[in-house]
Amino acid sequence: MKKRRKRALFITFEGPDGAGKTTHAKRLKHDLEAEGYKVLLTREPGGSHFGERVRDILLDRKTGKISPITELLLYESIRAHHVETVIKPSIESGTIVISDRFTDASIAYQGYGRGIPIEIVKTLNSIATSGLVPDVTILIDIKPEVALRGIAKRVQDVIGNSKKNRKGLDRIESAGNAFHHRVRQAYLEMSKDSSGRILCIHRQNKFEETYALIINELSRKFDFFRKVFNN
Ligand code: TMP
Repeated sequence: MKKRRKRALFITFEGPDGAGKTTHAKRLKHDLEAEGYKVLLTREPGGSHFGERVRDILLDRKTGKISPITELLLYESIRAHHVETVIKPSIESGTIVISDRFTDASIAYQGYGRGIPIEIVKTLNSIATSGLVPDVTILIDIKPEVALRGIAKRVQDVIGNSKKNRKGLDRIESAGNAFHHRVRQAYLEMSKDSSGRILCIHRQNKFEETYALIINELSRKFDFFRKVFNN
């Protein structure tokens, strides 16, 4: 395996539920590994044994209603452990890390979605990460109606705002249409204000078309990707 410079890239994927970011993150890992790079694909909530256990609590609808700040603190505790035990040691040893969601998700979901003041979310993000910021973030944008429809047919009733058939959705997915619209809007605004860190990709009908846009944007931003992908 080829190793990169000492501190490797830290890349995150973000987007509304059902945007398809996980599949793109897996493909990027695959393509970088094919070029000889060491890559770790991880996720939030999750990324460690502890994080995966708390993920189950956060997403399980049996958990029921918890206050927004309780929810935020759980995401942040997962993050603190994830950064300290997985992300930092990996990038410092030269492994490229791709995380399927990170700090921006807390701003979008708990800040704009649940209504916690953004400054509080940002402060907790910075405590949990000890100031670690991704080198680049791929935001896959999609309208919530389309995204939620795509998660599964089971979601159709959420779009129609009916409560009767939401049982297939997890605790966050079932938060309702208005919530998911706020999340999407938040991501779009954050990408405008991010000084180029968050690259906004509008999801296309075909996977390959969306993935090509991701590679183009990464190549425009980093010589590294231009060379790797001959772009
Ligand atoms: P996933 O489906 O992308 O794995 O993410 C699980 C859910 O957790 C998703 O609905 C977004 C939500 N989430 C937050 O609300 N806040 C956060 O900080 C993170 C990382 C995820």
